Amino acid sequence: MAAGKTLLLAAVCGLLGAGLAQVDWADQLSNEMDPARIEEFLRILTEKPHLAGTQEGYSLAEYVRQTWEDQGLDSAHMAPYDVLLSYPDPDNPSYVALVDENSTEVFRSSPGEPHVDVDPAANISSVVPPFAAYSPSGVVESSRLVYVNYGRTSDFDLVKSRGINVKRKMVIARYGKTSRGRKLRRAQDRGAVGMIVYSDPREVVGIGWGRDRKYPDGWYAPGTAVQRGHFLYTTGEGEPLTPGYPAKDYTYIMEESESDQLPTIPVHVIGYTDAMEIMKLMRGREVVNDSWRGLLETKYRYGAGFGRPKLSSARKIRLNVTVTKEKRTIHNVVGIIRGAVEPDRYVVLGNHRDAWNLGAVDPNSGTACLLEITRALGEMMKQGWRPRRTLMFISWDAEEHGMHGSHEWIEEFGKIMSDRAVAYINVDIAVRDKYTLRARATPSLKPLLKEAAMKVPWPETTPDGDTLYSVWRQRTPADSEDPDSDPKISLPSSASDFVPFVRRVGVPIMDLAMVHRYTITYPNYPLYHTAYETFHLQKTYIDPEFKFHRLMSQLWAGIAFSLAEAEILPIDVSEYAATVSEMFDVLKDEYGEGFQATQISLDALESAVTNFTQAAAMFEEKLASLGNDTSPMVARMYNDQLMQMERAFIDPLGIPSRPFYRHTVLSNGLYSTDTFPALGDAVERMGSDWTDPGKASKLRDVRKQLSIISHFIQSAANTLGTPASTVF
Ligand SMILES: *[C@@H]1O[C@H](CO)[C@@H](O)[C@H](O)[C@H]1NC(C)=O
Ligand SMILES: *[C@@H]1O[C@H](CO)[C@@H](O)[C@H](O)[C@H]1NC(C)=O
Ligand SMILES: *[C@@H]1O[C@H](CO)[C@@H](O)[C@H](O)[C@H]1NC(C)=O
Ligand SMILES: *[C@@H]1O[C@H](CO)[C@@H](O)[C@H](O)[C@H]1NC(C)=O
Ligand SMILES: *[C@@H]1O[C@H](CO)[C@@H](O)[C@H](O)[C@H]1NC(C)=O
Ligand SMILES: *[C@@H]1O[C@H](CO)[C@@H](O)[C@H](O)[C@H]1NC(C)=O
Ligand SMILES: [Zn+2]
Repeated sequence: MAAGKTLLLAAVCGLLGAGLAQVDWADQLSNEMDPARIEEFLRILTEKPHLAGTQEGYSLAEYVRQTWEDQGLDSAHMAPYDVLLSYPDPDNPSYVALVDENSTEVFRSSPGEPHVDVDPAANISSVVPPFAAYSPSGVVESSRLVYVNYGRTSDFDLVKSRGINVKRKMVIARYGKTSRGRKLRRAQDRGAVGMIVYSDPREVVGIGWGRDRKYPDGWYAPGTAVQRGHFLYTTGEGEPLTPGYPAKDYTYIMEESESDQLPTIPVHVIGYTDAMEIMKLMRGREVVNDSWRGLLETKYRYGAGFGRPKLSSARKIRLNVTVTKEKRTIHNVVGIIRGAVEPDRYVVLGNHRDAWNLGAVDPNSGTACLLEITRALGEMMKQGWRPRRTLMFISWDAEEHGMHGSHEWIEEFGKIMSDRAVAYINVDIAVRDKYTLRARATPSLKPLLKEAAMKVPWPETTPDGDTLYSVWRQRTPADSEDPDSDPKISLPSSASDFVPFVRRVGVPIMDLAMVHRYTITYPNYPLYHTAYETFHLQKTYIDPEFKFHRLMSQLWAGIAFSLAEAEILPIDVSEYAATVSEMFDVLKDEYGEGFQATQISLDALESAVTNFTQAAAMFEEKLASLGNDTSPMVARMYNDQLMQMERAFIDPLGIPSRPFYRHTVLSNGLYSTDTFPALGDAVERMGSDWTDPGKASKLRDVRKQLSIISHFIQSAANTLGTPASTVF
């Protein structure tokens, strides 16, 4: 009897123990996310401007480090680097002026956005004035002004075709379509003396619903709002003076004059109220094409004449730029939860912390979510949970100056990341609006992303569905003709801190954000990089209850949880093969004639694509037949192959003319083609007639890039083969 009781007791204890062990940690993690706490994090993060390299920037880094320590992470440390940064002179802000025949300034652009009395934090004097980071300082003048639309190559070509040369003239471009650095570089290469970049109402007010509600009464931009930003001409180098290597105290530093990234002509940025004062005085025989016209109430002319005596005594445009470049210390913060089973495998979550000003949208909506995720995980650790793999959280610095923090860190630790990182999940701006999810991902992570989105409830009632997945799919289908379409997930283009992970070392990435409906041509949201990215903006107009911040935290954490806990990594190799096959199809469909006319065979590439597709299918069959009795060694063997597949696409020599973009499938081409980047550029350069003898050297480049991409796809196929048989 006594023995029986003991047994019974043991059984009950056993059951209890089993009950405890079966806590659904994934559910708990999701339920733990608290909108009120996210709001409080955001309020603290946005109290002061915290530009990289400033005292306030450092204080906020220390706040993040201390918070992670207090939340119970195993460790939290700073990773500092000394890099070249750029600042305005708050006492003598840069400006654009109009001057009369006696060189007297008759108009000066506003030194900054007026304070608006709605948000105590936004009302402080230390707001960073609008400036063009890394612009050289100096005064330039011209009596000639040319409007170059968005400043794309095609825009400069059109101006030239209208008989206007920008040499020794001032140019004015609107924001949008192409990066600041590229607009400026094109003006510089064509001999312009300086450049003005402004936000046109078409981009920051638009023609849509609610456009009359401008900050502080709404989400749209008043004419006084100015987008700040850096004007480096970057192709994946990171910090301008130590390309390729981490900026440590022993690192050799280039001369500024050696850096191809730093601009040599001055540039300044203004809002549309000031732009109007300038644009209305433009002369020139031709009014622009319709597609060039913005929404200013003036006739848009190409130029280059300037001055309308009836309207103003102004005769010249003057640019007076007072921007400094200084070496200062930036601080990434790295927090770690050690893995219990595979401590040497890292799942990395990252977001930048530095902002041009208060950063309540870019980037600290993301930082607030990250701090809530670490808080929730800290709580779980107190209850005895520990992930299978190591979780790493990184708060980057100096993203706004050119992604310096993440580049320097990858330059220092790239080898380790290449060996050990399972994936990097980036969130920059978590919530700029709440219409739909915008996702970028390496192909192998798409299925994981979709699965995670199915588990996140949509926080409002809508006919579009009750999970993030269903609303996302409904509102942003990959194929709008197909009612059963998947949601749209783009490849990792564009720019945030995921770039060095995927393009330098081949770590799979995702980049996630809640965004607005793209019915109008906003390149970004209207108040992007202005002084009005305030807590008030988030709290009043974007996400008053922080429900969508909660949604983003749940999604980000859910993805990280799967990557850290799943025995076999949720990396889908067949999805990758499908993407590579599509790129091959685009190549054949769009450029097949050229290959035929020059008798260049696509057989090797086709064979590599087929081999990769077959290897992926066979690999998945083997995985499926493993059943439940995977020994840790066997699981690790398959997981290593899953990780190595992405690295196989890395060419240490880089793609042509951009040695720091090393991913042969996922780097940006110079031309936007939907095929392999380097080969896509090579075939674009061929134009229509490939047989033209003058194109012989371009044709050699096509052959070269074709062989290179064939090799790397076959390499990826090899990584998936059975180690002992297929390859050797
Ligand atoms: C340019 O601005 C600086 C600082 O505001 C000022 O000292 C200087 O006189 C200005 N230069 C000209 C040519 O107006
Ligand atoms: C420029 O200076 C001359 C000589 O002082 C004067 O006559 C003229 O009115 C001035 N122009 C303007 C626009 O003030
Ligand atoms: C904001 O600044 C203005 C002018 O400096 C001042 O009058 C106002 O009281 C301030 N508002 C708040 C909420 O601090
Ligand atoms: C601009 O208009 C001109 C004629 O007015 C036309 O030849 C040209 O193709 C147009 N360009 C664009 C980009 O629309
Ligand atoms: C594809 O695999 C076949 C069979 O192993 C091999 O003969 C062929 O060379 C491979 N293709 C490439 C481009 O390496
Ligand atoms: C694997 O385990 C699950 C439950 O954990 C069970 O339903 C399934 O039948 C098992 N499969 C095999 C092949 O043993
Ligand atoms: Zn950002």
